Amino acid sequence: MEQGFLMQLLFLVLFLQTMKRLFMQILSEFPCKSTTTAMLSYVLNAMGDNLISVVGANVPQFAGGNIIAGKGPNFVLEADEYDKCFLALAPQIAVVTNVNWDHVDTFPNEEAIKNAFREFVHQIRPGGHLILCGDSPGACDLLVEDQQGIVPDIKRLANAQITNQGYYVTTYGISSKNDWHASSITSNLQGGRDYVLHHKGCPVANISLMLTGDHNVLNSLAVIATITTMFDGKRNMHDTINAISHHLAKFEGVSRRFDFIGKVNGCHIYDDYAHHPAELRALLRAARQKFPSQALWVVFQPHTYSRLAAFMEDFITSFTAADHVIVTEIYAARETDNGNFSGRDLATSIIAPSSEYIPKMDDVIDLLETKLQSSGNQDAIVFTVGAGDITTLGPKLLARLQQSSCSQMAV
Ligand SMILES: *[C@@H]1O[C@H](CO)[C@@H](O)[C@H](O)[C@H]1NC(C)=O
Ligand SMILES: *[C@@H]1O[C@H](CO)[C@@H](O)[C@H](O)[C@H]1NC(C)=O
Repeated sequence: MEQGFLMQLLFLVLFLQTMKRLFMQILSEFPCKSTTTAMLSYVLNAMGDNLISVVGANVPQFAGGNIIAGKGPNFVLEADEYDKCFLALAPQIAVVTNVNWDHVDTFPNEEAIKNAFREFVHQIRPGGHLILCGDSPGACDLLVEDQQGIVPDIKRLANAQITNQGYYVTTYGISSKNDWHASSITSNLQGGRDYVLHHKGCPVANISLMLTGDHNVLNSLAVIATITTMFDGKRNMHDTINAISHHLAKFEGVSRRFDFIGKVNGCHIYDDYAHHPAELRALLRAARQKFPSQALWVVFQPHTYSRLAAFMEDFITSFTAADHVIVTEIYAARETDNGNFSGRDLATSIIAPSSEYIPKMDDVIDLLETKLQSSGNQDAIVFTVGAGDITTLGPKLLARLQQSSCSQMAV
């Protein structure tokens, strides 16, 4: 009865990497680190758990947008430290992905945010679990105090240590010091990541993700650490890992909305998931409102041949709020090129604004670097847009602009 009453709560504590101004303005659009929550909820649900889940971003694979409306008892919630509202929670399992000082009014300094997180982990229920990214120095600092009383509890749980606060700790990360770690990380043909999963130093499975970036390797390790903890002692660990790995490979990520990548001088870079003409139009209208006088660049990667074909007429008129459009080659996803369409067809059909077809991302970066600099570093907004691997372009462009802006200053 008590178990029925006490809903098992799983909490994700996420850290916003953005400044407060941005956070306040586009709260509902900003995806922060919702991917961890979404990935965990997706995999649990696919494994048959009738969970309730609330994610801070839309998940195209959830029928309910950003929620899964199951019956419980498990409840996965994306919590964040803003306004310390996460301190109202008493989770059974808490996943802490990162602790960094953010420029948020709530926390005047780094110590203040660490204290809030310490308070939070102390609210984990007795016998509960803290799943911690051991690669994050800030996250590891949470344990310094509690660790003095650490004793390995072999009887109750082979996989975790218990702290003097009465909760267990499991770590994950790329580094081999973690309970769960990844090695041999490589890119796969889908543009995602493959790696070898290790538990306590031993290779246990090959993991394949559709999502790109090492941060998604970390997200998947958090999911593995959490679900194996939930099933510990109830299911064979290898069966559990096989099931998790099977579903992880099918997870497509969250919708990226108005995602701030960074700025160099007057140039701001954003990324967005828009891939339907209506979404694109709404995005560019919102961008124009936010940045009325800046030069607005859009790099658009069409997502699938069939969608571009079906909506070609609509796409042609979707870019009018922008000043410059670059169309890349189509992101095929699971389709094959039948030769009927390319990004060029779109680029040449857009009447306004000016548009060009540049199939390769490296060439897009070269071009933008030249154009942005020749415009004398005037304020410019660059949006990378699409549902495919275009999301990798923003960070690369940012790095390139930072490099060239440093070398310019040196001259
Ligand atoms: C990963 O895949 C390789 C090649 O198929 C295989 O030899 C290896 O045993 C696998 N590793 C694990 C840990 O399952
Ligand atoms: C592409 O062209 C082939 C024949 O050339 C046709 O059978 C097919 O339906 C076309 N596909 C689309 C999406 O228009």
